[in-house]
Amino acid sequence: MANLPPLSLYIHIPWCIQKCPYCDFNSHALKGEVPHEEYVQHLLADLEKDLPLTSGREVSTLFIGGGTPSLLSSEAMAHLLDGVRARLPLSPTAEITMEANPGAVEAERFSGYQRAGINRISIGVQSFSPQKLARLGRIHDDEEAKRAAMLATELHLRSFNLDLMHGLPDQSLDEALDDLRQAIALDPPHLSWYQLTIEPNTLFASRPPRLPDDDALWDIFEQGHQLLSSAGYQRYETSAYAKPGYRCQHNLNYWRFGDYLGIGCGAHGKLTQHDGRIIRTVKTRHPRGFMSGNYLDKQYDVIDADKPFEFFMNRLRLLEAAPREEFNRYTGLSEAVIRPQIDDALKQGYLSETPTHWQTTEKGTLFLNSLLELFLAE
Ligand SMILES: C[S@@+](CC[C@H](N)C(=O)[O-])C[C@H]1O[C@@H](n2cnc3c(N)ncnc32)[C@H](O)[C@@H]1O
Ligand code: SF4
Repeated sequence: MANLPPLSLYIHIPWCIQKCPYCDFNSHALKGEVPHEEYVQHLLADLEKDLPLTSGREVSTLFIGGGTPSLLSSEAMAHLLDGVRARLPLSPTAEITMEANPGAVEAERFSGYQRAGINRISIGVQSFSPQKLARLGRIHDDEEAKRAAMLATELHLRSFNLDLMHGLPDQSLDEALDDLRQAIALDPPHLSWYQLTIEPNTLFASRPPRLPDDDALWDIFEQGHQLLSSAGYQRYETSAYAKPGYRCQHNLNYWRFGDYLGIGCGAHGKLTQHDGRIIRTVKTRHPRGFMSGNYLDKQYDVIDADKPFEFFMNRLRLLEAAPREEFNRYTGLSEAVIRPQIDDALKQGYLSETPTHWQTTEKGTLFLNSLLELFLAE
């Protein structure tokens, strides 16, 4: 298999100042100081061990997520990015994103991150309402969120994103739309607009807040989508909106079933090999275990029978039509393997097909789980 999928790199920073009650990401409330340099050394050692899985390929996008990566000093970030560049070919035009929490953002640090090579920042705003921010356990207020967005604008980064959530506890339609209006006024090239979900093992799961009902959620989605569209944002995935030319290249690679290295606490990786095997890696979740030098928790091959489901589960999140040749390029399987399931999806009106592309129909979007089930291994 000569034509391997594009390769991305994800780096996880696992600490937050405090844990938000809705969050099930691998993030741990910080006790004491961030071990800046020590953690960076472990990240680079972890990366080195994974290098044989990459076949020397160039990394086309890098994403530093969390947790709260903006807790890392700009010096440590520079060591991290220099260390990455010294160990693998990082494309000179790579999109390099860092997540930032508005409660942990200083102007000085931001320009340090930029000097280190960060060219895109994703700011976790969630809401501009002081009451909602308090209810979500956020450590920042609306003014700090606006300041962070203005800082990102002043730095003339390649792009920046604001994360907003809707369907918040006791949120009205007007409140949800007001959050969007304030976000749009800051003119971010990219906007992620997530519906709040109650995840198991979170504080919200044990003490559920009162959320808007399904009808109210539908009104919020429909009118919010209208607002974003008329402000020039195109929806390209369930929750992702961007101005033309500003889609997140890193997430696009995940959704197209591209490859990625996952470095740091709890990070996942997916790496296609020249012989067609797809290897998944999972790193040690807890910072203590990870920093004892036991980086790898699990490594296994994706069996051929699971590849069609995994491919479509990612690919069908994107609203754009899927080029048919990508099925073979990204899974190593021939289209003949899934012909019966595709025919079934066409017959049931879930998909439409041209000689080059597949596109989910409105019915397919509405019954996405039934569509995906067609590709489950028996
Ligand atoms: C990995 S988090 C990290 C962002 C950063 N730590 C922060 O919170 O500012 C990425 C985004 O996922 C979204 N998110 C987290 N938990 C969620 C949930 N339960 N439902 C919907 N969106 C969620 C939030 O918008 C968050 O900013
Ligand atoms: S700051 Fe972000 S990663 Fe940390 S607990 Fe809150 S939502 Fe999760």
